[in-house]
Amino acid sequence: MSAIIQASPLEKLSPEPLPTGDSCVLVIFGASGDLTRRKLIPGLYNLACVGCMNPQFEVLGIGRTPMSTEEFRRKTGEAAAKSKDTRDFSESGWTDFETRLNYMVGDINDPNFYPQLRSRLEEMEKNGSSPNHLFYVSTPASAAEPIIEGLGAAGLNHRDQGWTRIVLEKPFGRDLESSRALNDVVHGVFDEKAVYRIDHYLGKETVQNILVFRFSNSLFEPVWNRNYIDYVEITVAETVGVENRAAFYEETGALRDMVANHLLQLLALTAMEPPIAFDADSVREQKVQVFRSIRPMSVEDVARFTARGQYGSGMIDGKHIPGYRQEPGVNRNSVTETYAAVKFQIENWRWAGVPFYIRTGKRLARNLTEIRVHLKPTPQPLFASTSSVIDPNVITISIQPDEGISIAFDAKRPGTQVRTVTVQANFSYQESFGSKGPVAYETLLLDSMRGDATLFTRRDEVEAEWRIITPIEEAWAHLPAPNFPNYAAGSEGPTSWHDLLEIRGNTGEHAISYSK
Ligand code: BG6
Repeated sequence: MSAIIQASPLEKLSPEPLPTGDSCVLVIFGASGDLTRRKLIPGLYNLACVGCMNPQFEVLGIGRTPMSTEEFRRKTGEAAAKSKDTRDFSESGWTDFETRLNYMVGDINDPNFYPQLRSRLEEMEKNGSSPNHLFYVSTPASAAEPIIEGLGAAGLNHRDQGWTRIVLEKPFGRDLESSRALNDVVHGVFDEKAVYRIDHYLGKETVQNILVFRFSNSLFEPVWNRNYIDYVEITVAETVGVENRAAFYEETGALRDMVANHLLQLLALTAMEPPIAFDADSVREQKVQVFRSIRPMSVEDVARFTARGQYGSGMIDGKHIPGYRQEPGVNRNSVTETYAAVKFQIENWRWAGVPFYIRTGKRLARNLTEIRVHLKPTPQPLFASTSSVIDPNVITISIQPDEGISIAFDAKRPGTQVRTVTVQANFSYQESFGSKGPVAYETLLLDSMRGDATLFTRRDEVEAEWRIITPIEEAWAHLPAPNFPNYAAGSEGPTSWHDLLEIRGNTGEHAISYSK
Protein backbone atom coordinates (compact mmCIF):
# COMPACT_ATOMS: atom_id res chain seq x y z
CA MET A 1 0.00 0.00 0.00
CA SER A 2 1.24 3.46 -0.70
CA ALA A 3 0.08 7.02 -0.35
CA ILE A 4 1.05 9.99 -2.48
CA ILE A 5 2.31 13.35 -1.33
CA GLN A 6 2.57 15.79 -4.20
CA ALA A 7 5.57 18.10 -4.18
CA SER A 8 5.26 21.31 -6.14
CA PRO A 9 7.45 24.38 -6.67
CA LEU A 10 6.97 26.80 -3.81
CA GLU A 11 6.97 29.90 -5.99
CA LYS A 12 5.50 30.62 -9.37
CA LEU A 13 8.31 30.23 -11.87
CA SER A 14 9.28 33.40 -13.69
CA PRO A 15 10.19 32.93 -17.36
CA GLU A 16 13.84 32.07 -17.84
CA PRO A 17 16.00 34.26 -20.10
CA LEU A 18 16.75 32.13 -23.16
CA PRO A 19 20.38 31.55 -24.17
CA THR A 20 21.13 31.95 -27.87
CA GLY A 21 23.54 29.83 -29.85
CA ASP A 22 26.50 31.44 -31.63
CA SER A 23 26.12 32.10 -35.32
CA CYS A 24 27.38 29.11 -37.32
CA VAL A 25 27.00 26.80 -40.28
CA LEU A 26 26.13 23.33 -39.00
CA VAL A 27 27.50 20.81 -41.49
CA ILE A 28 25.73 17.48 -40.97
CA PHE A 29 27.41 14.37 -42.40
CA GLY A 30 24.69 11.74 -42.79
CA ALA A 31 22.00 14.30 -43.54
CA SER A 32 19.79 11.84 -45.40
CA GLY A 33 19.90 9.44 -42.43
CA ASP A 34 17.48 8.52 -39.71
CA LEU A 35 19.08 10.48 -36.86
CA THR A 36 19.02 13.72 -38.83
CA ARG A 37 15.34 13.34 -39.64
CA ARG A 38 14.10 12.05 -36.27
CA LYS A 39 16.33 13.94 -33.83
CA LEU A 40 18.62 16.65 -35.20
CA ILE A 41 16.24 18.63 -37.40
CA PRO A 42 13.38 18.44 -34.84
CA GLY A 43 15.81 19.62 -32.11
CA LEU A 44 16.96 22.54 -34.28
CA TYR A 45 13.38 23.41 -35.22
CA ASN A 46 12.42 23.52 -31.52
CA LEU A 47 15.36 25.84 -30.81
CA ALA A 48 14.25 28.17 -33.60
CA CYS A 49 10.65 28.17 -32.30
CA VAL A 50 11.66 29.16 -28.76
CA GLY A 51 13.97 31.90 -30.02
CA CYS A 52 17.32 30.28 -29.12
CA MET A 53 18.63 30.22 -32.64
CA ASN A 54 21.06 32.83 -33.85
CA PRO A 55 19.63 34.65 -36.90
CA GLN A 56 22.88 33.76 -38.69
CA PHE A 57 22.48 29.99 -38.24
CA GLU A 58 22.30 27.64 -41.19
CA VAL A 59 22.49 23.93 -41.89
CA LEU A 60 24.46 22.39 -44.72
CA GLY A 61 23.37 18.76 -44.94
CA ILE A 62 25.76 16.33 -46.65
CA GLY A 63 24.48 13.02 -47.94
CA ARG A 64 25.11 10.45 -50.64
CA THR A 65 21.46 10.40 -51.68
CA PRO A 66 21.08 12.76 -54.64
CA MET A 67 18.46 15.40 -53.86
CA SER A 68 17.97 19.14 -54.18
CA THR A 69 17.85 21.55 -51.25
CA GLU A 70 14.09 21.87 -51.85
CA GLU A 71 13.66 18.11 -51.60
CA PHE A 72 15.80 18.00 -48.45
CA ARG A 73 13.61 20.69 -46.89
CA ARG A 74 10.42 18.86 -47.85
CA LYS A 75 11.62 15.47 -46.56
CA THR A 76 12.96 16.81 -43.29
CA GLY A 77 9.76 18.84 -42.85
CA GLU A 78 7.60 15.74 -43.24
CA ALA A 79 9.77 13.87 -40.76
CA ALA A 80 9.80 16.78 -38.27
CA ALA A 81 6.00 16.94 -38.37
CA LYS A 82 5.89 13.27 -37.31
CA SER A 83 8.83 13.13 -34.89
CA LYS A 84 7.97 12.77 -31.22
CA ASP A 85 10.87 15.13 -30.49
CA THR A 86 9.16 18.04 -32.29
CA ARG A 87 7.31 20.12 -29.73
CA ASP A 88 4.85 22.33 -31.63
CA PHE A 89 4.93 21.75 -35.35
CA SER A 90 3.19 24.35 -37.49
CA GLU A 91 3.30 24.94 -41.23
CA SER A 92 4.17 28.60 -40.75
CA GLY A 93 6.89 27.79 -38.20
CA TRP A 94 8.40 25.30 -40.60
CA THR A 95 8.23 27.69 -43.55
CA ASP A 96 10.31 30.19 -41.56
CA PHE A 97 12.76 27.56 -40.37
CA GLU A 98 13.37 25.65 -43.60
CA THR A 99 15.02 28.63 -45.29
CA ARG A 100 18.00 27.89 -43.05
CA LEU A 101 18.44 24.39 -44.55
CA ASN A 102 20.75 23.59 -47.48
CA TYR A 103 21.82 20.28 -48.97
CA MET A 104 24.93 19.12 -50.80
CA VAL A 105 25.45 15.70 -52.37
CA GLY A 106 28.79 14.23 -51.41
CA ASP A 107 30.63 10.96 -50.99
CA ILE A 108 32.37 11.17 -47.64
CA ASN A 109 34.78 8.41 -48.62
CA ASP A 110 36.06 10.39 -51.59
CA PRO A 111 39.00 12.66 -50.62
CA ASN A 112 38.12 14.96 -53.55
CA PHE A 113 34.86 15.84 -51.90
CA TYR A 114 36.43 17.85 -49.04
CA PRO A 115 37.98 20.61 -51.20
CA GLN A 116 34.52 20.96 -52.79
CA LEU A 117 33.00 21.30 -49.34
CA ARG A 118 35.56 23.96 -48.50
CA SER A 119 34.68 25.91 -51.65
CA ARG A 120 30.99 25.68 -50.82
CA LEU A 121 31.57 26.99 -47.29
CA GLU A 122 33.75 29.83 -48.61
CA GLU A 123 31.06 30.75 -51.11
CA MET A 124 28.42 30.73 -48.36
CA GLU A 125 30.60 32.99 -46.23
CA LYS A 126 31.02 35.45 -49.11
CA ASN A 127 27.24 35.56 -49.29
CA GLY A 128 26.88 36.46 -45.63
CA SER A 129 26.99 33.10 -43.81
CA SER A 130 28.73 32.76 -40.48
CA PRO A 131 32.50 32.03 -40.46
CA ASN A 132 31.96 29.52 -37.59
CA HIS A 133 31.74 25.86 -38.57
CA LEU A 134 30.14 23.10 -36.51
CA PHE A 135 30.70 19.69 -38.12
CA TYR A 136 28.29 16.97 -37.00
CA VAL A 137 29.25 13.37 -37.76
CA SER A 138 25.98 11.48 -37.81
CA THR A 139 27.09 8.55 -39.95
CA PRO A 140 27.83 4.85 -39.30
CA ALA A 141 30.95 4.57 -37.13
CA SER A 142 33.17 3.39 -39.99
CA ALA A 143 32.67 6.75 -41.77
CA ALA A 144 34.00 8.87 -38.91
CA GLU A 145 37.69 8.43 -39.74
CA PRO A 146 37.51 9.37 -43.46
CA ILE A 147 35.44 12.43 -42.54
CA ILE A 148 37.89 13.62 -39.90
CA GLU A 149 40.87 13.02 -42.14
CA GLY A 150 39.13 14.65 -45.11
CA LEU A 151 38.35 17.77 -43.06
CA GLY A 152 41.95 17.93 -41.88
CA ALA A 153 43.41 17.50 -45.36
CA ALA A 154 41.17 20.28 -46.73
CA GLY A 155 42.21 22.62 -43.90
CA LEU A 156 38.67 22.69 -42.52
CA ASN A 157 39.83 21.86 -38.98
CA HIS A 158 40.54 25.45 -37.98
CA ARG A 159 39.65 28.99 -38.94
CA ASP A 160 41.69 32.14 -38.63
CA GLN A 161 38.52 34.06 -37.99
CA GLY A 162 35.72 32.21 -36.29
CA TRP A 163 35.65 28.83 -34.59
CA THR A 164 35.51 25.20 -35.72
CA ARG A 165 34.04 22.37 -33.63
CA ILE A 166 33.19 18.76 -34.35
CA VAL A 167 30.37 16.73 -32.81
CA LEU A 168 30.78 12.96 -32.85
CA GLU A 169 27.98 10.47 -32.40
CA LYS A 170 28.58 7.17 -30.64
CA PRO A 171 29.89 4.50 -30.96
CA PHE A 172 33.37 5.83 -30.19
CA GLY A 173 35.04 2.59 -31.22
CA ARG A 174 33.97 -0.92 -30.22
CA ASP A 175 36.62 -1.65 -27.59
CA LEU A 176 39.50 0.05 -25.83
CA GLU A 177 41.92 -0.39 -28.69
CA SER A 178 39.65 0.86 -31.46
CA SER A 179 38.47 3.78 -29.36
CA ARG A 180 42.09 4.81 -28.75
CA ALA A 181 42.81 4.50 -32.46
CA LEU A 182 39.76 6.65 -33.30
CA ASN A 183 40.73 9.23 -30.69
CA ASP A 184 44.25 9.36 -32.15
CA VAL A 185 42.77 10.12 -35.57
CA VAL A 186 40.53 12.81 -34.03
CA HIS A 187 43.44 14.39 -32.16
CA GLY A 188 45.63 14.31 -35.27
CA VAL A 189 43.18 16.83 -36.74
CA PHE A 190 41.23 18.56 -33.93
CA ASP A 191 42.17 19.85 -30.54
CA GLU A 192 40.24 18.06 -27.73
CA LYS A 193 38.62 21.40 -26.83
CA ALA A 194 36.94 21.41 -30.26
CA VAL A 195 35.59 17.84 -29.90
CA TYR A 196 32.03 17.25 -28.65
CA ARG A 197 31.26 13.53 -28.15
CA ILE A 198 27.53 13.05 -27.78
CA ASP A 199 25.94 10.75 -25.26
CA HIS A 200 22.37 11.90 -25.67
CA TYR A 201 21.42 10.65 -22.18
CA LEU A 202 23.40 13.57 -20.76
CA GLY A 203 21.03 15.98 -22.52
CA LYS A 204 17.93 14.54 -20.85
CA GLU A 205 16.41 16.91 -18.30
CA THR A 206 16.16 14.39 -15.47
CA VAL A 207 19.68 13.13 -16.07
CA GLN A 208 20.99 16.66 -15.54
CA ASN A 209 18.77 16.86 -12.49
CA ILE A 210 20.73 14.02 -10.82
CA LEU A 211 23.53 16.49 -10.06
CA VAL A 212 21.15 19.21 -8.91
CA PHE A 213 19.33 16.77 -6.64
CA ARG A 214 22.56 15.49 -5.15
CA PHE A 215 24.55 18.67 -4.84
CA SER A 216 22.03 21.34 -3.95
CA ASN A 217 20.03 19.57 -1.27
CA SER A 218 21.77 19.12 2.05
CA LEU A 219 19.05 16.65 3.03
CA PHE A 220 20.43 14.00 0.70
CA GLU A 221 24.15 14.61 0.31
CA PRO A 222 25.08 13.44 3.84
CA VAL A 223 23.48 10.03 3.29
CA TRP A 224 24.86 9.51 -0.22
CA ASN A 225 27.52 6.97 0.69
CA ARG A 226 28.23 3.46 1.96
CA ASN A 227 27.14 4.32 5.52
CA TYR A 228 23.50 4.75 4.50
CA ILE A 229 23.10 3.32 1.03
CA ASP A 230 22.64 -0.42 0.71
CA TYR A 231 22.63 -0.77 -3.07
CA VAL A 232 21.74 1.07 -6.27
CA GLU A 233 19.82 -0.19 -9.30
CA ILE A 234 19.99 1.49 -12.70
CA THR A 235 17.53 0.26 -15.31
CA VAL A 236 16.98 1.17 -18.93
CA ALA A 237 14.19 -1.08 -20.19
CA GLU A 238 12.84 -0.71 -23.72
CA THR A 239 9.89 -2.28 -25.49
CA VAL A 240 11.38 -1.58 -28.92
CA GLY A 241 13.45 -4.19 -30.71
CA VAL A 242 16.27 -3.53 -33.15
CA GLU A 243 13.95 -1.79 -35.64
CA ASN A 244 15.74 -1.35 -38.97
CA ARG A 245 19.23 -1.53 -37.45
CA ALA A 246 19.83 -5.29 -37.49
CA ALA A 247 23.22 -5.09 -39.21
CA PHE A 248 24.49 -2.54 -36.69
CA TYR A 249 22.97 -4.35 -33.72
CA GLU A 250 24.33 -7.78 -34.68
CA GLU A 251 27.83 -6.29 -34.42
CA THR A 252 27.09 -4.30 -31.30
CA GLY A 253 24.74 -5.91 -28.77
CA ALA A 254 23.25 -4.39 -25.64
CA LEU A 255 26.51 -4.06 -23.69
CA ARG A 256 28.21 -1.91 -26.33
CA ASP A 257 25.06 -0.13 -27.46
CA MET A 258 23.78 0.94 -24.05
CA VAL A 259 25.98 -0.05 -21.09
CA ALA A 260 29.29 1.25 -22.48
CA ASN A 261 27.85 4.75 -22.64
CA HIS A 262 24.34 5.61 -21.38
CA LEU A 263 24.24 3.33 -18.33
CA LEU A 264 27.83 4.04 -17.30
CA GLN A 265 27.09 7.76 -17.56
CA LEU A 266 24.05 7.37 -15.30
CA LEU A 267 26.20 5.41 -12.87
CA ALA A 268 28.93 8.07 -12.91
CA LEU A 269 26.49 10.90 -12.20
CA THR A 270 24.96 8.92 -9.34
CA ALA A 271 28.32 8.02 -7.81
CA MET A 272 30.70 10.92 -8.56
CA GLU A 273 32.24 13.22 -5.98
CA PRO A 274 31.09 16.85 -5.98
CA PRO A 275 32.91 18.74 -8.77
CA ILE A 276 34.60 21.99 -7.74
CA ALA A 277 32.44 23.84 -10.28
CA PHE A 278 29.71 23.05 -12.75
CA ASP A 279 31.92 23.34 -15.79
CA ALA A 280 33.07 20.88 -18.43
CA ASP A 281 36.41 19.87 -17.00
CA SER A 282 35.40 19.77 -13.34
CA VAL A 283 32.37 17.55 -14.00
CA ARG A 284 34.18 15.27 -16.42
CA GLU A 285 37.15 14.94 -14.08
CA GLN A 286 34.90 13.51 -11.37
CA LYS A 287 33.12 11.13 -13.73
CA VAL A 288 36.45 9.71 -14.89
CA GLN A 289 37.41 9.08 -11.26
CA VAL A 290 34.33 6.88 -10.86
CA PHE A 291 35.26 4.83 -13.92
CA ARG A 292 38.81 4.49 -12.66
CA SER A 293 37.47 3.11 -9.38
CA ILE A 294 35.81 0.18 -11.16
CA ARG A 295 38.30 -2.62 -11.53
CA PRO A 296 38.21 -4.39 -14.92
CA MET A 297 36.65 -7.82 -14.37
CA SER A 298 38.42 -11.16 -14.63
CA VAL A 299 36.74 -13.97 -16.59
CA GLU A 300 35.58 -15.44 -13.25
CA ASP A 301 34.07 -12.11 -12.22
CA VAL A 302 32.31 -11.86 -15.55
CA ALA A 303 30.82 -15.33 -15.08
CA ARG A 304 29.57 -14.37 -11.60
CA PHE A 305 28.60 -10.73 -11.92
CA THR A 306 27.13 -10.33 -15.37
CA ALA A 307 24.13 -11.74 -17.17
CA ARG A 308 23.10 -11.55 -20.80
CA GLY A 309 19.98 -12.45 -22.66
CA GLN A 310 18.34 -12.51 -26.04
CA TYR A 311 14.62 -12.28 -26.58
CA GLY A 312 12.54 -14.97 -28.17
CA SER A 313 9.04 -14.43 -29.51
CA GLY A 314 6.35 -13.07 -27.21
CA MET A 315 3.58 -10.51 -26.85
CA ILE A 316 3.81 -6.75 -26.28
CA ASP A 317 0.67 -4.62 -26.06
CA GLY A 318 -1.40 -7.49 -27.38
CA LYS A 319 0.78 -7.88 -30.50
CA HIS A 320 2.83 -10.93 -31.41
CA ILE A 321 6.53 -10.07 -31.50
CA PRO A 322 9.00 -12.30 -33.37
CA GLY A 323 12.16 -13.41 -31.58
CA TYR A 324 15.43 -11.55 -32.21
CA ARG A 325 16.74 -14.37 -34.41
CA GLN A 326 13.66 -14.03 -36.60
CA GLU A 327 14.16 -10.29 -37.21
CA PRO A 328 15.11 -9.46 -40.83
CA GLY A 329 18.88 -9.22 -41.19
CA VAL A 330 19.67 -11.19 -38.02
CA ASN A 331 21.65 -14.43 -38.12
CA ARG A 332 19.37 -17.41 -37.28
CA ASN A 333 21.95 -18.61 -34.72
CA SER A 334 22.94 -15.18 -33.47
CA VAL A 335 24.53 -14.99 -30.02
CA THR A 336 24.26 -11.20 -29.87
CA GLU A 337 22.79 -10.13 -26.53
CA THR A 338 19.70 -7.94 -26.48
CA TYR A 339 19.84 -7.76 -22.69
CA ALA A 340 22.77 -7.11 -20.38
CA ALA A 341 23.05 -6.85 -16.62
CA VAL A 342 26.16 -6.19 -14.57
CA LYS A 343 26.91 -5.89 -10.89
CA PHE A 344 29.59 -3.21 -10.51
CA GLN A 345 31.61 -2.43 -7.41
CA ILE A 346 33.05 1.05 -7.17
CA GLU A 347 36.20 0.62 -5.17
CA ASN A 348 36.58 3.97 -3.50
CA TRP A 349 36.08 5.47 -0.06
CA ARG A 350 32.48 6.53 -0.64
CA TRP A 351 31.15 3.34 -2.23
CA ALA A 352 33.18 0.43 -0.83
CA GLY A 353 30.83 -2.54 -0.45
CA VAL A 354 27.82 -0.92 -2.18
CA PRO A 355 26.84 -2.81 -5.33
CA PHE A 356 25.52 -0.96 -8.38
CA TYR A 357 23.24 -3.25 -10.38
CA ILE A 358 22.71 -2.06 -13.89
CA ARG A 359 20.59 -3.65 -16.58
CA THR A 360 19.15 -2.88 -19.96
CA GLY A 361 17.25 -4.80 -22.56
CA LYS A 362 15.16 -4.61 -25.69
CA ARG A 363 11.65 -5.99 -26.04
CA LEU A 364 11.01 -5.91 -22.31
CA ALA A 365 7.62 -5.49 -20.68
CA ARG A 366 7.81 -1.69 -20.49
CA ASN A 367 9.71 1.44 -21.35
CA LEU A 368 11.39 2.62 -18.21
CA THR A 369 14.59 4.41 -17.31
CA GLU A 370 15.22 4.94 -13.63
CA ILE A 371 17.78 4.94 -10.85
CA ARG A 372 16.71 3.43 -7.54
CA VAL A 373 18.82 4.15 -4.52
CA HIS A 374 18.05 1.73 -1.69
CA LEU A 375 18.95 2.93 1.78
CA LYS A 376 19.90 0.63 4.60
CA PRO A 377 17.29 -0.32 7.18
CA THR A 378 17.26 1.52 10.50
CA PRO A 379 19.65 0.02 13.07
CA GLN A 380 16.89 -1.20 15.37
CA PRO A 381 13.56 -2.56 14.05
CA LEU A 382 11.43 -0.75 16.64
CA PHE A 383 8.05 -1.58 15.12
CA ALA A 384 8.78 -5.11 14.00
CA SER A 385 6.38 -6.65 16.51
CA THR A 386 3.39 -4.66 15.26
CA SER A 387 4.13 -4.37 11.58
CA SER A 388 4.64 -7.21 9.18
CA VAL A 389 6.82 -5.35 6.71
CA ILE A 390 9.14 -2.42 7.25
CA ASP A 391 10.63 -1.26 4.00
CA PRO A 392 13.91 0.64 3.99
CA ASN A 393 13.76 4.01 2.23
CA VAL A 394 14.11 4.10 -1.53
CA ILE A 395 14.86 7.18 -3.62
CA THR A 396 13.76 6.75 -7.24
CA ILE A 397 14.98 9.11 -9.92
CA SER A 398 12.67 8.54 -12.89
CA ILE A 399 14.14 9.53 -16.23
CA GLN A 400 11.55 8.24 -18.69
CA PRO A 401 8.72 7.95 -19.58
CA ASP A 402 7.80 9.76 -16.33
CA GLU A 403 10.26 12.39 -15.23
CA GLY A 404 10.54 12.98 -11.53
CA ILE A 405 11.79 11.86 -8.16
CA SER A 406 10.00 9.85 -5.52
CA ILE A 407 10.98 8.94 -2.02
CA ALA A 408 9.49 5.95 -0.26
CA PHE A 409 9.37 6.10 3.51
CA ASP A 410 7.45 4.49 6.32
CA ALA A 411 4.60 6.22 8.12
CA LYS A 412 2.10 5.21 10.76
CA ARG A 413 -1.06 3.73 9.37
CA PRO A 414 -4.13 5.50 10.87
CA GLY A 415 -5.63 3.46 13.71
CA THR A 416 -5.36 2.63 17.35
CA GLN A 417 -2.35 0.37 16.84
CA VAL A 418 1.11 1.46 15.74
CA ARG A 419 1.36 -0.18 12.35
CA THR A 420 3.58 1.09 9.55
CA VAL A 421 2.88 1.54 5.89
CA THR A 422 5.16 2.67 3.05
CA VAL A 423 4.15 6.00 1.54
CA GLN A 424 5.67 7.97 -1.32
CA ALA A 425 6.50 11.63 -1.77
CA ASN A 426 6.40 12.24 -5.49
CA PHE A 427 7.82 15.10 -7.49
CA SER A 428 6.73 15.05 -11.12
CA TYR A 429 8.23 17.43 -13.68
CA GLN A 430 5.03 17.41 -15.68
CA GLU A 431 2.77 18.21 -12.75
CA SER A 432 5.07 20.71 -11.07
CA PHE A 433 6.29 22.62 -14.09
CA GLY A 434 3.36 22.03 -16.44
CA SER A 435 5.35 21.51 -19.57
CA LYS A 436 8.04 19.20 -20.82
CA GLY A 437 11.55 20.60 -20.94
CA PRO A 438 13.72 20.61 -24.04
CA VAL A 439 14.45 17.27 -25.66
CA ALA A 440 17.98 15.90 -25.27
CA TYR A 441 19.23 16.81 -28.76
CA GLU A 442 17.90 20.33 -28.43
CA THR A 443 19.96 20.91 -25.28
CA LEU A 444 23.07 19.30 -26.73
CA LEU A 445 22.89 21.09 -30.08
CA LEU A 446 22.52 24.43 -28.33
CA ASP A 447 25.43 23.67 -25.99
CA SER A 448 27.66 22.73 -28.91
CA MET A 449 26.77 26.02 -30.63
CA ARG A 450 27.57 27.93 -27.44
CA GLY A 451 30.83 26.07 -26.81
CA ASP A 452 29.75 24.44 -23.55
CA ALA A 453 31.12 20.88 -23.39
CA THR A 454 29.89 20.01 -19.87
CA LEU A 455 27.31 17.52 -21.17
CA PHE A 456 29.68 15.88 -23.67
CA THR A 457 32.20 13.14 -22.98
CA ARG A 458 35.93 13.64 -22.96
CA ARG A 459 38.55 11.34 -24.50
CA ASP A 460 39.80 9.91 -21.21
CA GLU A 461 36.22 9.30 -20.09
CA VAL A 462 35.34 7.30 -23.18
CA GLU A 463 38.52 5.25 -22.91
CA ALA A 464 37.87 4.63 -19.21
CA GLU A 465 34.39 3.33 -20.13
CA TRP A 466 35.91 0.90 -22.63
CA ARG A 467 38.48 -0.23 -20.05
CA ILE A 468 35.52 -1.51 -18.01
CA ILE A 469 33.47 -2.93 -20.88
CA THR A 470 36.13 -4.60 -23.04
CA PRO A 471 37.04 -7.37 -20.52
CA ILE A 472 33.34 -8.25 -20.26
CA GLU A 473 32.99 -8.48 -24.03
CA GLU A 474 36.16 -10.59 -24.23
CA ALA A 475 35.07 -12.94 -21.46
CA TRP A 476 31.64 -13.37 -23.03
CA ALA A 477 33.32 -14.35 -26.28
CA HIS A 478 35.23 -17.10 -24.43
CA LEU A 479 32.64 -18.35 -21.97
CA PRO A 480 30.25 -21.08 -23.20
CA ALA A 481 27.64 -19.59 -25.51
CA PRO A 482 24.45 -18.94 -23.56
CA ASN A 483 21.30 -20.80 -24.33
CA PHE A 484 19.59 -18.10 -26.37
CA PRO A 485 16.79 -17.10 -26.57
CA ASN A 486 16.37 -16.98 -22.80
CA TYR A 487 13.58 -14.46 -22.32
CA ALA A 488 10.30 -13.88 -24.03
CA ALA A 489 9.53 -10.55 -25.70
CA GLY A 490 7.27 -8.66 -23.31
CA SER A 491 8.76 -10.24 -20.15
CA GLU A 492 10.92 -8.73 -17.40
CA GLY A 493 14.07 -10.28 -18.90
CA PRO A 494 16.02 -13.49 -18.27
CA THR A 495 15.86 -15.16 -14.89
CA SER A 496 19.64 -15.01 -14.74
CA TRP A 497 19.16 -11.42 -13.60
CA HIS A 498 17.99 -12.78 -10.27
CA ASP A 499 21.15 -14.84 -9.91
CA LEU A 500 23.11 -11.65 -10.19
CA LEU A 501 21.40 -10.11 -7.21
CA GLU A 502 23.43 -11.81 -4.60
CA ILE A 503 22.43 -12.13 -1.00
CA ARG A 504 24.17 -9.52 1.08
CA GLY A 505 23.67 -7.00 3.83
CA ASN A 506 20.91 -6.86 6.37
CA THR A 507 18.13 -6.95 3.89
CA GLY A 508 18.68 -10.55 2.91
CA GLU A 509 18.02 -11.16 -0.76
CA HIS A 510 17.63 -7.96 -2.67
CA ALA A 511 14.23 -7.83 -4.19
CA ILE A 512 14.45 -6.89 -7.81
CA SER A 513 12.22 -3.93 -8.19
CA TYR A 514 10.80 -1.49 -10.67
CA SER A 515 8.82 1.49 -9.54
CA LYS A 516 5.11 0.71 -9.83
C1 BG6 B 1 20.62 4.64 -28.54
C2 BG6 B 1 20.74 3.16 -28.81
O1 BG6 B 1 21.88 5.18 -28.22
O2 BG6 B 1 19.73 4.86 -27.46
C3 BG6 B 1 19.36 2.57 -29.10
O3 BG6 B 1 21.60 2.96 -29.93
C4 BG6 B 1 18.41 2.89 -27.97
O4 BG6 B 1 19.46 1.15 -29.26
C5 BG6 B 1 18.41 4.39 -27.70
O5 BG6 B 1 17.11 2.46 -28.35
C6 BG6 B 1 17.60 4.70 -26.47
O6 BG6 B 1 17.47 6.10 -26.36
P1 BG6 B 1 16.21 6.74 -25.66
O7 BG6 B 1 16.50 8.20 -25.62
O8 BG6 B 1 15.01 6.37 -26.51
O9 BG6 B 1 16.12 6.11 -24.30
